[in-house]
Amino acid sequence: MSIRKRIAVTGGAGYIGSHTVVQLVEAGYDVLIIDDLSRSDQRLLDGLKNLLGITIPFRKVDCRNYNALAEIFSNNRIDAVIHFAAFKAVGESVEKPLDYYENNLFSLTSLLRCMQSHKVSKLIFSSSCTVYGEPDTVPVNEQAAIKKANSPYGATKQMCERILEDIEVLGIDVVSLRYFNPIGAHPSALIGELPLGTPNNLVPYITQTAIGLRNQLTIFGDDYPTPDGTCVRDYIHVTDLADAHVKALDFINQNLGNHIFNVGTGFGVSVKELVNQFEEVNQIKLNYKIGSRRPGDVAKVFADANLAFNVLRWKPRFTIKDALQHAWHWEKRIRSIN
Ligand code: UFG
Repeated sequence: MSIRKRIAVTGGAGYIGSHTVVQLVEAGYDVLIIDDLSRSDQRLLDGLKNLLGITIPFRKVDCRNYNALAEIFSNNRIDAVIHFAAFKAVGESVEKPLDYYENNLFSLTSLLRCMQSHKVSKLIFSSSCTVYGEPDTVPVNEQAAIKKANSPYGATKQMCERILEDIEVLGIDVVSLRYFNPIGAHPSALIGELPLGTPNNLVPYITQTAIGLRNQLTIFGDDYPTPDGTCVRDYIHVTDLADAHVKALDFINQNLGNHIFNVGTGFGVSVKELVNQFEEVNQIKLNYKIGSRRPGDVAKVFADANLAFNVLRWKPRFTIKDALQHAWHWEKRIRSIN
């Protein structure tokens, strides 16, 4: 009987992390979650238990705490790591740059030291299309120039990618996945996005407005150089994004070195189109207004994801409408309204 591989998932109690845990378990991996719960919620761990019918081992640890991390690595065989744990709010990063540099960079270097000393040599890293800033052409591929980041958050992702390039000499093989805009929730509605406080991102703002937690959605600007004047993004179902991590693990188990893949659908959708689709698929009228532009937003970014399609053999399965329906089911369930 072959031994199941065990994957340490830092940030596994978060939005993308928890969905990835589900896909990993379904693909036959053992999982160990490492999360300090500073930006995540016990309710997602409870949701995982309900969904999977098992309790996933969990350690409440901040990845910057090398000693605590090393203890976990000493006491558990770990075959590979998926590193989600990071701060991710663009606006907050502008106000608290040091928090972002400290947390996002030191958690990575501490984790890498731990992997090195425990001879764990496979890492999947959460990167972001934010590394492209406003790309010169769309769809944007992995070869596009990396410009000065628009925010400290974006800069941390660029710096982390650079660190990962440089640690190739240590014999740690890496896949960085540059996520576009993950939305939606697990089809079971047992896990989903649970932002702390007022949501920054579009879809949780939409669902919280629809359920009455927010009065009105503001669309940030309709004077961009796009077909309807609102920003264009590449929205990807979070379960599809989670699947890309399973494919990346298959890949990194057979390939050495440092690799980068875009993970998006390849389709650009405007804010207005997304709002209309939410209304249509869920039969809800959304209260919204057009407001001014949000500082730091790029007009248009969507992925050339052919590398992931061809090399990782990954493809998204869900549509945007599925994602908007699942996000709405989740919002209703978590607020206990049917
Ligand atoms: N938007 C609104 N109203 C809102 C919230 C968002 O109109 O209340 C608009 C934004 O202006 C933007 C679009 O919806 O045009 C998407 O905004 P999100 O905040 O959902 O997503 P972003 O594209 O700004 O950011 C996301 C992730 C970041 C990541 C970035 C890369 O949240 O972590 O993509 O582009 F870095």
